[in-house]
Order: sequence, then structure tokens, then C-alpha cells
Amino acid sequence: MNGSPKGNQSVTMQYILYIKKKHPEHEYNIVNVAQTIKKIENDEKRFGDIINQIQESDGVIWGFPLYVMLVCSQYKRFIELISERNAEAVFENKYTIVISTSIHFYDHTAQNYMQSICDDLKMKYVGNFPADSWDLLWPKRRARWLSFVEEFINHIENNFPTSKHYAPLNKRAFNYNPGKIIDESKKIDTHGKKILVLSDETKEGTNLGNMLKRFRDSFSTEIEILNINDVDIKGGCISCLQCGYDHKCSYIGKDGFIEFWENIVMTSDILIFAGVIKDRYLSSRWKMALDRAFYMTHTPTLIGKQMGYIISGPLSQIPNLTEMFQGHIELQGSNLVDIITDEFGTSEEIDALLHDFARRLVTFSKADYIKPLTFLGEGGRKIFRDDIYGRNRFVFMADHEYYEKHGFYDTFPQNDERAKKLNEKLIPLIKIDKVRNKMNMKQEFLRPFLKVLEDPNK
Ligand SMILES: Cc1cc2nc3c(=O)[nH]c(=O)nc-3n(C[C@H](O)[C@H](O)[C@H](O)COP(=O)(O)O)c2cc1C
Repeated sequence: MNGSPKGNQSVTMQYILYIKKKHPEHEYNIVNVAQTIKKIENDEKRFGDIINQIQESDGVIWGFPLYVMLVCSQYKRFIELISERNAEAVFENKYTIVISTSIHFYDHTAQNYMQSICDDLKMKYVGNFPADSWDLLWPKRRARWLSFVEEFINHIENNFPTSKHYAPLNKRAFNYNPGKIIDESKKIDTHGKKILVLSDETKEGTNLGNMLKRFRDSFSTEIEILNINDVDIKGGCISCLQCGYDHKCSYIGKDGFIEFWENIVMTSDILIFAGVIKDRYLSSRWKMALDRAFYMTHTPTLIGKQMGYIISGPLSQIPNLTEMFQGHIELQGSNLVDIITDEFGTSEEIDALLHDFARRLVTFSKADYIKPLTFLGEGGRKIFRDDIYGRNRFVFMADHEYYEKHGFYDTFPQNDERAKKLNEKLIPLIKIDKVRNKMNMKQEFLRPFLKVLEDPNK
């Protein structure tokens, strides 16, 4: 199952062709799922043919490139079609493995997602292979891939057991009914901040639609709520990588996405993403919007915003998704204020949470508060920095220029002047036994802090 919008020109598929050469005794059928998703979606017969192929197979290989922490929107849409068209049964008890290719930026979240989908489909999941895009070029790494696939074949031939990792999602049956109208005096002053909510569901009467209405009513002035289904997006990212050179998307002039992103999304001060959980993520429509925002490749477009999520569905049972939410916001250099869901509490409690969410968003926006990055943002930035500085600079020239201009390369440790001076001074000293034995490390660590605490107003 080829999850690359590039079809046969996919790097990931070279891994499959390699196996085909090594084990020609087996039959291989590659289905270009992501590239032909429109046909699959519009032509039920084509979808049926794919399902028949799966039915007749002994094993299924999900192979895909990482797209913004997950699979691409086209592949996600195919996964949605499986349940929409009640085709889950053919996947049951089918042996499966998952290979992704990427630069290892959030490949674990994409792999977690696919593993949970395989478990939901009751497949016999043998394992995953999170390859670097270039792994196949190295003999030892090729051998590793071959061993992995041989173990997959071994499983099929011997009917070996496989472990499960994900319990089915449990959705609570709950209707959120917002309480009475909020008193004008209690409404939150926006202080001129531009507040935007993007959602894939805005209908009143649904839990999410009602939550958004309640959130909007928390403010003393009108805020904008936009349904991403109404945005003119002609299709998902096709990985032409034209954007790599100058951040110009090949869809320019063909649809309204760039204008939407630059004139509406990027100009907001407070930005809320809202959606209904669909399988183990949001909708493929949401994914399409996030993939298309990749025309700015590895540079942030939402810097300094206060952000948050309003979600309908069992988010707490999908920590993998929360991690993606947080990681995405940290990478953008914005601030994750909170995630409000309809999973817990009464309608009154959700009312109170939404109201206080509104208050905190404005408070933090006024204070320009951005909390420190965790590993999710720090680690992700380092992967981008190294890749753009190094092997992928020629592809992403626009990122390289941006990184140079905005000091991203100053974070290389060899450019850290303070650390360099410190090491020059202390390393020769620490090598002297007498000095080292006398040194109180705890005190040394505290020395610079004492200065700050002596005069906290400095
Ligand atoms: C829109 C887009 C998003 C991407 N997102 C990620 C990502 O989140 N993490 C990562 O490590 N690589 C990411 N990549 C890199 C691809 O996953 C990688 O180049 C992959 O090997 C391409 O495989 P393919 O030729 O089979 O499509 C992205 C590439 C594109 C075009």
C-alpha cells in the first residue's frame, strides 16, 4: 500500500523493489493509494478492486513517507474510506508490517498511528521499520531491512502469533448542552487581539459546534470561526518540492490555500484549532491543510501566537495525538495554552473551562508569554537545523537562508561562545587531581544563580 503521493517515483517504494529483487519467489502488488486517492474515492469499483487485492494477499505492507508527523492526507483519507465503506473485515487477521521513510522527525508518531490503525483493523502486526530516507544506500542498513522483511515472511509462513498494543477507543455517549447566556459584564475583553478558530465542524447541535459557539460567546467582541471545509483547497501536497527553493507552492494561482494561510491564519494573535477525532487523528481534511502549510517547509509561520485546541472525541486515549499537537505548536514558536475536550465533566464544567480558556488566551497574549520548549520542540528543531545545514540544503535553499538570517545556526554548540570560554578555562583545571578533588561541583553549579538572586531586579 504505497502512501506516497509521488506514486512509482517514491523513495519508499525503492525499499519494496529491493525486496522484490532479493525475493523474486514471491508476488508483489504495489497499489499507489496516495497518488490516486481521488479516483479511489470517486470510483467505488476502484476501491473495491483494492479491497479484493488485499483479500487475496497473504500479507500487507503499509509503506509511506512521513508527512507532517503522520501519513499524508491522501493516505489518511484511504484509511477513513476503509471504515466509511465497511471494508474492515478483509484486514482482519492479515499479517502486516509498516515501513516509513523520513528524516526521523516525528516518525515515531506516524508509526504509532499506523500501529494503532492496524490494531483497530485487527490485523496481525509484526512490526515497523522507521527508515531514514537514505538507508537503502548503505549495505549494512539494507541488510537490516532485508532481515526485518524476512522475519515478516517467516511469520506468514509459520502463522506465528503477534502482539497487540492498542485497546479500541471508547467514546463517551454525551451531549454537550451549553448553559445560559453569559452575562455581558463577565465576558472577556479581547483587548484588540485578533482571535481565529479553525474547525472542520461548525454545525450547531453537534458537541463541537456547541463548544465553539460557547467559546465565541465568552468574548465581549466578535471573533472569527472558520470552517476549513469552506477554504478553497484543491488537493493535498503532492511533494513536487518546488517550495524548497523559494517557499513558492506549485498550487499558487490554482486554489486559495496560500491566501487563506497568509492573510487569515498568519495574521491572527490567538489561534485555535478545533476538530472531531476521526480514527486516531483529526480528519483527513485537517491533515490536508497542515500538509499544504508545508510550502514554508521547515520554517515557522505561526511564531508568537497563543494557541490551543478544542476537540470532540476521546483525545485522552490517544496520547500520540496530544504529542503531535504540542510538538507542532512548539516547533512553530507559539504557546500551547490548553486543550479543551468534551470527554470529561458536565456541560456546566465544560462551559467554565471554555470561558477560562478564553481568559487565559487573552492574558497570555497581552503578556507575550511563550513557555519553554520541551524535548518535542528542542529535539525537532535540532533535526531540522542539522538536515538543512547538511544533506538537504540544496533542496531547501529557502530554509537555509531563513535559518542563517534568523540565527538558527547559532544554536550549534561549536558556535556557543560562552560554552567555549568555559570549557577552555575549566577543562585544564578539572584534569588536575588536586583541583578536581577540592572542587565542590554543587557550589560551582550554583555560582551564576547566586548573582541573579543577589539582585533580582537587575
Ligand atoms: C509535505 C511533506 C512533509 C514532510 N514531513 C516530514 C516529517 O514530518 N518528518 C520527516 O522526517 N520527514 C518529512 N518529510 C520528508 C519525507 O518523508 C521523506 O523525504 C520521504 O523519504 C519521501 O518519501 P517518498 O519519496 O516515498 O514520498 C516530508 C516531506 C513532505 C513533502
